[in-house]
Amino acid sequence: MELNKIYNEDCMQGMRKLDNNSIQFIFSDPPYNLIGLDVFMDSRTYIGMARQRAKEYLRLVDYNGTVVICGRPPILAEIVLLMQEEGFIFTDWITWWKVDSITAKKDGYSKNYEVFAVFRRSPFSKFKHLPVPSKSGNYNANVNIGSIWKHCKISSQHKEGTKHPTQKPIKFLRRFIETFSDESDLILDPFMGSGTTAVACKELRRKYVGFEINPEYVNMANKRLETITEIQEKLKY
Ligand SMILES: C[S@@+](CC[C@H](N)C(=O)[O-])C[C@H]1O[C@@H](n2cnc3c(N)ncnc32)[C@H](O)[C@@H]1O
Repeated sequence: MELNKIYNEDCMQGMRKLDNNSIQFIFSDPPYNLIGLDVFMDSRTYIGMARQRAKEYLRLVDYNGTVVICGRPPILAEIVLLMQEEGFIFTDWITWWKVDSITAKKDGYSKNYEVFAVFRRSPFSKFKHLPVPSKSGNYNANVNIGSIWKHCKISSQHKEGTKHPTQKPIKFLRRFIETFSDESDLILDPFMGSGTTAVACKELRRKYVGFEINPEYVNMANKRLETITEIQEKLKY
């Protein structure tokens, strides 16, 4: 299969064409199927599909690889359980605190967060802490940044925003990719959307392969990729 490409294809069909143990890191950001957000099928069907994907991730990801799945409870909590049943080691529940996302909700709290659940394929999965900028402007190596990550939402008005409604911050993708992989490793994103994962891979000299069912989003991602060059200077995580 040709690499460094986003295929306009259903991800389950596409993933079957990839070799066993060929992937270092999978970033999986499916439609969430949450009430008030994007319910499109009954939850048992959704969980059944998530389990089929989990089996495929287990076949594809290398023994020292990692999978990150995005979502929110209660669906994501159930996916954590099924990923463990399928053989993954659950390690982290990272909360994206959407600092600008408070809405006027009269009868409950604003859902100003999303979650990234992290799964290792084995106890030997790659992991490295990244240098982060200190207040003085220098970089501190090996800082543990913890599991609450602050970032504004990525609207179409944001400087990196596209017209995709659920775009993830490029900063988070860079962080995941640098933490869980090395240069030239192969990264998979089954739900590419606006192409954030592919952009981070291109910047960071990783190979990538991705799937996206909506042809408009594939075009959008490819246009975004045309403007990207490899990052030469130190990144801000
Ligand atoms: C939550 S969005 C991903 C957003 C992406 N992480 C970004 O930063 O732009 C999920 C994407 O999955 C796509 N999608 C839904 N079902 C799919 C499938 N079966 N195979 C591939 N893509 C699919 C949707 O069109 C949507 O663009």
